[in-house]
Amino acid sequence: VQRTLVLVKPDGVRRNLVGEVLRRIEAKGYSLVALQLRTADRELLAGHYAEHEGKPFYEPLVEFMSSGPVVAAVVEGQRVIEGFRALAGTTDPTTAAPGTIRGDLARDWGLRVQQNLVHGSDSEESAAREIGLWFPGLG
Ligand code: GTP
Ligand code: MG
Repeated sequence: VQRTLVLVKPDGVRRNLVGEVLRRIEAKGYSLVALQLRTADRELLAGHYAEHEGKPFYEPLVEFMSSGPVVAAVVEGQRVIEGFRALAGTTDPTTAAPGTIRGDLARDWGLRVQQNLVHGSDSEESAAREIGLWFPGLG
């Protein structure tokens, strides 16, 4: 059975949408296997977003992601990696499909970073790496 790392980003925590995001995950039928609320430091985020280092949005992204607490969850279920990304919707919240987390609950706020509420691992390799970063005690 597959696992993925989900984050409710600082915008989601600030907007009191943690319950709504977790509700959608649970309603879909996936299970929570680990959960924490925590403010990420730059070192953790440098690991988490290593693939984006050097891109123009990298610095503002790390700044935003360390601006307040995030909820990190390990979520389990058959094909949960693609399943959660389908629940989340596409990266740009303006055009994310209605019915998705980003499509229903986020929009462009005119800021330098897409504040798109959630993160979900994009492959089994990313999931294993990200779960190891956020939950060193697991797996
Ligand atoms: P995550 O689940 O957060 O990883 O989102 P994603 O997989 O849909 O997007 P990706 O991994 O490509 O980018 C990570 C995050 O960087 C996004 O969620 C956005 O917050 C931000 N980001 C990505 N691309 C852009 C971009 O072109 N411009 C800006 N401003 N931000 C971006
Ligand atoms: Mg990504």
